[in-house]
Amino acid sequence: MRRKLVAGNWKMHGSLALTSELCEAVTAGKPYDVDVVVFPPTLYLRQAVLEVAGSGVGVGAQDVSVHAQDGAYTGEISARMIADCGAGWAIVGHSERRADFRESDHDVGRKFAAARKAGLTPVLCVGETHAEYTGGHTLEVIERQLAAVLEHNPIEAFVSAVIAYEPVWAIGSGLSATPEQAQHVHAFIRSQLGKKDANISLLTRLLYGGSVKAANAAELFAQPDVDGGLVGGASLNTEEFVKICRAAGT
Ligand code: PGA
Repeated sequence: MRRKLVAGNWKMHGSLALTSELCEAVTAGKPYDVDVVVFPPTLYLRQAVLEVAGSGVGVGAQDVSVHAQDGAYTGEISARMIADCGAGWAIVGHSERRADFRESDHDVGRKFAAARKAGLTPVLCVGETHAEYTGGHTLEVIERQLAAVLEHNPIEAFVSAVIAYEPVWAIGSGLSATPEQAQHVHAFIRSQLGKKDANISLLTRLLYGGSVKAANAAELFAQPDVDGGLVGGASLNTEEFVKICRAAGT
């Protein structure tokens, strides 16, 4: 049985004060019947780790360096450093990083490996752009993105890893995929993993991301292959985020 998971990706939002406010609200909303993880900007990671300590809420980074070893990589932050600060999770391959920072499928595979090596749980984002969606290429894009990660990582890595399906056209647009669209792609992702190992494919948690809010969370999470959500904008609104966490528990 896969336990539901709700992840809040704060993106480049926040301050010391907002980190305290969000952490306090999320921990005050406990107990949840689901796993909850927040992804603050890396600069506020340590603060968030200390603020949620003992609550069961997890903390992760929004990205990790492709470089696993320390070295002369000005501005980079390694997975090891993130783990050293007490975080347990890392998003890799978010579409904003793929598009704005030109991260390739190959880079994402390396980042996934670096996160695992440091003991972090990777949350791998996959998803098609609007043009790919309208062109009917959704499944082939997902297949390519997954295959690149599997080139750098054994299927066993997916026992504890998480995959987030985030159609790029749904991110921050208010236009969520329908529950049926999400389920269709999630079932495809599970079948792709199943080609490597049927048992493992049943263990991997698959999140949906893209304009998840309190109003649509319950119906998305009710789909058989939707194991929770990766929430952007709504994770900055404490009331809304707590409602989404509760929706995952029903
Ligand atoms: P959104 O973002 O919920 O604001 O659409 C989701 C994400 O980018 O992870």
